[in-house]
Amino acid sequence: MYDGNKIIIGLVVFGLLIISPILYNTLGKASVPPEPDINTPEINKMVEKKCVEPKSFMRANHMQILNDWRDEVVRVGKTRTYVNGEGKEFNMSLQNTCMKCHSNKKNFCDKCHTYMAVKPYCWDCHIAPKEKTT
Ligand code: HEC
Ligand code: HEC
Ligand code: HEC
Repeated sequence: MYDGNKIIIGLVVFGLLIISPILYNTLGKASVPPEPDINTPEINKMVEKKCVEPKSFMRANHMQILNDWRDEVVRVGKTRTYVNGEGKEFNMSLQNTCMKCHSNKKNFCDKCHTYMAVKPYCWDCHIAPKEKTT
C-alpha cells in the first residue's frame, strides 16, 4: 500500500523546486534598478565622462542641485554660473546644461523616474530635448 497524499505533496514540492529558479529570476529582475543610458552625442565627445558632480552625488542629489539652480537664477537673477568641486564652471540651466549632455531624456531621466514612480512636473514649462542618441 502506498499513501496517495504523500505522493501528491511530493509532486508539489518537486514542482516548486523545478520552477524556483524561474520565480527567483523574474522576481529578482523586477527589482534590479534600471541602468540610465549616457550614450549621447555630447557625452560621447567628452574625454573624461563626468557629470557636474561625481556620479554618486548626482544620483542622490540632482533634484537638490536643480532646485538650487532654479532659486539662484529665478530669485537672485544675477549669478548663473555654478562652480563644481573641481573648479569647473557650468551655466545653471536645466535645458542648456543638463539636457544638453543628457539629450536622451527617455533613456536617462525617465528611465529612473518611471521605475521610481516620480514624475517631475518641470516639463510642463521647460522644453524637453529632442531625443538625441547615437
Ligand atoms: C558635461 C556633460 C553633463 C552635464 C552638463 C550633466 N551631466 Fe549628468 N552625467 C554626465 C555623465 C558623463 C554622467 C556619468 C558619470 C559617471 O558615470 O561617472 C552623468 C551622470 C548623471 C547622473 C547619475 C546617473 C547614474 O547612473 O546614477 C545623474 C542623476 C545626472 N547625471 C543628472 C544630471 C543633471 C540633473 C544635470 C544638470 C544639473 C546633469 N546631469 C548635467 C554628463 C553630464
Ligand atoms: C539614477 C536614477 C535617476 C536619474 C538618471 C535621474 N533621476 Fe531625477 N530622480 C530620481 C529619483 C529616485 C528621484 C526621487 C527622489 C526623491 O523623491 O527623494 C528623482 C527626482 C527628481 C526631481 C524631483 C522631482 C520631485 O517631484 O521631487 C527632479 C526635478 C529630477 N529628478 C530631475 C531629473 C532630470 C532632469 C534628470 C535627467 C537629466 C534626472 N532627474 C535623472 C532618480 C533619477
Ligand atoms: C510653471 C512653469 C515652470 C515649471 C513647472 C518649472 N519651471 Fe523652472 N523655470 C521657469 C521659468 C519661467 C524660469 C526662468 C527662466 C529664465 O529666467 O531663464 C525657470 C528657470 C529654471 C532654472 C534656471 C534657468 C534655466 O534655464 O534652467 C532651472 C534650473 C529650473 N527652472 C528648474 C526647474 C525644475 C527642476 C523644475 C521641475 C521640478 C522646474 N524648473 C519647473 C518655469 C517653470
